[in-house]
Amino acid sequence: MKKPKEPSAPPPRGETASIGKIGNPLDFIAEDHMREREVCALIDRLVALVPISAEEHDMVLGFLQEQLPQHLQDEEIDLFPMMLERCDPEEEIDKVIDRLTSDHGHAIADAPAVVGLMKTQGGDLTPQACHILAEFARHARRHLVLENAIIMPIARARLTKADLRIMKRHMHERRGLDVPEET
Ligand SMILES: [Fe+2]
Ligand SMILES: [Fe+2]
Repeated sequence: MKKPKEPSAPPPRGETASIGKIGNPLDFIAEDHMREREVCALIDRLVALVPISAEEHDMVLGFLQEQLPQHLQDEEIDLFPMMLERCDPEEEIDKVIDRLTSDHGHAIADAPAVVGLMKTQGGDLTPQACHILAEFARHARRHLVLENAIIMPIARARLTKADLRIMKRHMHERRGLDVPEET
């Protein structure tokens, strides 16, 4: 008797964003955050000199070079201004957003060094390179905690359908994807 065919495995999360359809834009941002966590975990392994696969190596580089800059734009151009618009000044969300925007500046400035070290040193990093990668992952994680704990729940509660439609359209345009009819 023939063995039933195994269902095909889902693609690694690192591949889903670049090809996937964007449904709810906040879900898409949340998926980017999960992906960023995975990237941090892989960087931790590199720092510990534990080998990662070529596929995982490419996933980290792809994330840092392509997906992260797009993600930061999703937040800075769409999400953060919409949050400022929808929250009362006394909620002081502006202070959190100032902090997050400053973190983005550091991430954009530091990511090329991480990419360069991974490309030139592979899995055999010098102690100095390990320090640079470890600091990058540490900052990224701290940033994720703030966004997941404060920004995302408020965004889900406050952003309007119109906000989400605009965000979704911009996300498609930013990635060179066809903008769906309903947006
Ligand atoms: Fe984020
Ligand atoms: Fe961010």
